[in-house]
Amino acid sequence: MSAVLAPRASVAPFVDLEFLQDPYPAYRELREAGPIHWSEEFFGGAWLLTRHADVEAALRDPRLSARRTGGWVMRAAEPDGRAELTPMQRLFTRCLPFLDAPDHTRLRKVLQPAFRPDRIQALKPVTQALIDELLDEAGPHFDFMDKLARPLPARVIAKLMDVDASVYGDFTAWSEDIAAFLGSVNPTQAEVRAAQRSVVALAGYFERELLPRRRREPGDDLLSGLLAAQADGSVEDGAELLAQCAMLLFAGYETTRHLLGNAVHALLTEREQWERLRAEPELLPNAVRELLRHDTPVQWSGRRAMADFTLCGQRVRRGDLVLALIGSANRDPARHEFPEQLDVARANPGALAFGTGPHVCLGASLTQLETQTVLATLLRRRPELDLAGIAIRTQSPLYRGFMRLPVAG
Ligand code: HEM
Repeated sequence: MSAVLAPRASVAPFVDLEFLQDPYPAYRELREAGPIHWSEEFFGGAWLLTRHADVEAALRDPRLSARRTGGWVMRAAEPDGRAELTPMQRLFTRCLPFLDAPDHTRLRKVLQPAFRPDRIQALKPVTQALIDELLDEAGPHFDFMDKLARPLPARVIAKLMDVDASVYGDFTAWSEDIAAFLGSVNPTQAEVRAAQRSVVALAGYFERELLPRRRREPGDDLLSGLLAAQADGSVEDGAELLAQCAMLLFAGYETTRHLLGNAVHALLTEREQWERLRAEPELLPNAVRELLRHDTPVQWSGRRAMADFTLCGQRVRRGDLVLALIGSANRDPARHEFPEQLDVARANPGALAFGTGPHVCLGASLTQLETQTVLATLLRRRPELDLAGIAIRTQSPLYRGFMRLPVAG
């Protein structure tokens, strides 16, 4: 196919209330119209990749850099407000997901041991106890997001990182401010300022409270591992260390809470799938992968072109932003038969929801553990659970999930 050079014709804006409610019809139209589209709507201009094969290839493409936060944070600032955003910018640019080799390889090696499947499995008893406690407190009619989907991942990641129970409230509010900024295609000044305040507060909490405590009393936990790596020079002190702490707390909370909400909503809407899992609980690990495919909480990931080159038949320029639409790829009929259908027994639902290549998700085992345990507990303890009121979606096109999900049973 010959490369299209210019002009870049922007697709019509489509991120509206209808899209936030259900983005899949818009994705289907884009996919059918072509593999790559320029849209002015995303961050002032980005290439959108729509098909499974291209999204997968882009996430592995060494010509596309994960370093994409530079202009992104500063673009959102008013001209006289840039200095104010420097601390947030400094932390974002050092986070693992936004780095390339060799820094990325070095930091990933430090963090990986804490997420080994055997370490994650060791969290199962505490996860089960938390779920039972939250469910006991929830009563028969409750908002699933409020009573389970928010507190559970926050407490599990806090456990992994040794955060005090007394700061859950602050920590979830900080995380939600950061998500509102990261998940907006054109953040407002208010969103940027709130994210800046919360990033600084989150990093400050590690700097003042948690890291000094772990320095005094090292253990066999994630923070002690990071401090040991800092001592032997594998992690730089200051912004680099704090960036990984803040990023992990955020990544552990923001994604899994939405998966839990999306999963429960989908299974209660497609009731026969819920009943099937009741009858065949051994399908649960596959069901979680299928629920992630069907309605993933992370709808895209971004990269920047490191040079001018041809991508999916289109000439892209150095510095261009490319968004790999994972949510669209997961519904591509070229990869999945009857992609709109939820089928907990689907053969090979894939794992693109966790990305692929060097940046593939570190928290996949933790997510599987939490989601399987929640679903198994609900199926056992609340088999008659049902939707019971108006569910409200988040307003973020990136982090797809629910703000409110009333259930009863
Ligand atoms: C529903 C749950 C989750 C989903 C859908 C998800 C999705 C993703 C995706 C798509 C990526 C790749 C991004 C890219 O290529 O640019 C990623 C990376 C990452 N995820 Fe997750 N994630 C989930 C849960 C978690 C949890 C629970 C944690 C940790 C506690 C976590 C930590 C990370 C980290 C550290 C990275 C960056 C890895 C790297 O850059 O090398 N994630 N995740």
